[in-house]
Amino acid sequence: MPKPPRRPFQPDHGRKSAAPKARAESTADRGWDPVAAWYDKLVGDAGSDYHRHVILPGTLELLAPRPGETVIDVCCGQGVLVKPLLEAGVGRVTGVDASPRLIEAARARHGADSRVSLQVADACRPGPWADGSADAATCLMAVHDVPDIAGLFSNIRSALKPGGRVVMVFMHPCFRIPKRTHWGFDNDQKIQFRRVDAYGSPEAIPVTTHPGRADSGATTFYHRPLADVLTAVGEAGLGVTACRELFSHRRSQGNGPFSRAEHKAAGEFPLFIALKAVRLTTR
Ligand SMILES: C[S@@+](CC[C@H](N)C(=O)[O-])C[C@H]1O[C@@H](n2cnc3c(N)ncnc32)[C@H](O)[C@@H]1O
Repeated sequence: MPKPPRRPFQPDHGRKSAAPKARAESTADRGWDPVAAWYDKLVGDAGSDYHRHVILPGTLELLAPRPGETVIDVCCGQGVLVKPLLEAGVGRVTGVDASPRLIEAARARHGADSRVSLQVADACRPGPWADGSADAATCLMAVHDVPDIAGLFSNIRSALKPGGRVVMVFMHPCFRIPKRTHWGFDNDQKIQFRRVDAYGSPEAIPVTTHPGRADSGATTFYHRPLADVLTAVGEAGLGVTACRELFSHRRSQGNGPFSRAEHKAAGEFPLFIALKAVRLTTR
């Protein structure tokens, strides 16, 4: 059966963008600057709940940082990964993010450490940070926040030494699409299911963070089918060597049918996907 026609969005670098206006006004060049204060508070010094229990352990397990290595954290935000990397013995951490406010927050935490360098840069565009000197790279919870993954992956590749590795963790594109996926409960079968209303078309979805509060702000979530993401990784000259699907650490403990169904579903539907890829010597 033929696939229905797709509605691709265009990256907004010098081209006409199908992305919502909110993106152009609030997050085009400055990443999550408009929601930086909220995000910094949410993540704090040690990470959000999901960072601490799922994202950071999953990242470190796949990355397996070695003492003395140079690691670049692309779209580093307020620097949540810096401390765990240093504690793992990494020799130098460079953090790059488009948001001046989040880089400021990262500098407030780690700027005094001579092993750490933090820079404001658009990770979708080439820059001096992508100079081929990193042993490893990371990119946490940001693949879906940039309009141009071809640019992002190409720059990550350029940042790495030949054979260098990258670990990227992002929302699972099959199960976690804002406004398009939801939980449902089948009362007859006592099953909690994941409802997926749309998946196969790339889509720029406006998201309001912490709605209803005076300091709420707008970001854009760029949904792409998994095949598009994996193809873009390969086309950038990165070869996937490992993949993990990361599940919530939260489990319902109740004994009723709803709790039991919720408990089971939490172990069946992953929140995030983690990819490990290496810089290929040929493209
Ligand atoms: C959900 S936050 C994740 C931040 C951090 N990695 C973490 O796990 O806390 C997404 C980050 O991507 C950054 N970002 C979005 N577009 C970017 C771009 N084009 N270049 C660099 N950073 C970007 C945002 O500023 C924001 O810090």
